[in-house]
Amino acid sequence: MMLRTGSHSSITELAGHAGVPVINGLTDYSHPCQVMADVMTFEELRGPIEGRTIAWIGDANNVATSWAHAAVRFGFCLRIACPKQLAPDPVLLTWVKREGGRVEVTHTPGEAADGADVLVTDVWVSMGDEDGDKRRKLLAPYQVNEKLMGAAAKDAIFMHCLPAHRGDEVSAGVIDGPQSVVFDEAENRLHAQKAILAWCFGLS
Ligand code: NVA
Repeated sequence: MMLRTGSHSSITELAGHAGVPVINGLTDYSHPCQVMADVMTFEELRGPIEGRTIAWIGDANNVATSWAHAAVRFGFCLRIACPKQLAPDPVLLTWVKREGGRVEVTHTPGEAADGADVLVTDVWVSMGDEDGDKRRKLLAPYQVNEKLMGAAAKDAIFMHCLPAHRGDEVSAGVIDGPQSVVFDEAENRLHAQKAILAWCFGLS
């Protein structure tokens, strides 16, 4: 079963009763299928992700949580640039540390972007978020635009799980520009999820 839902507890509750694997298709806590597709996209375009630097710019939301999980499992460095009020859960950061992973938190987008191999962001208001106006204000300095992209590595790519809001979290020039790989990511959702199903069936 694959469940795309609001509250993460719905999925853990279902999994507790299910006799078959339950796949997290998106919850308010994490979005692992998306990040599996993103890691696949990076490796397809740039080779092994191990040892590389990924900069998450904006709200440390459900997708960012899965990036932190992936940083531990795949051995890359994740830098998160976020407002203090929208920082990652300390429980997550403690887990990362315990697992020997590298997740660094800053409140300065330029610091996170400096020399990074990927800049990645997401919408300012995720599903279930009710404080839209407050979030927009807090996140305004965190737009991924041409200037921020210029601070990243020369061959850096831009990622976004979509749908995106041009002019909010990302400028049109970046998401529609040559460094953007957002449609490769979207395509790879299919292939990554086929692989997850194959794994559940014991085929890989
Ligand atoms: N953070 C977004 C991801 C959408 C794919 C949300 O939860 O709405």
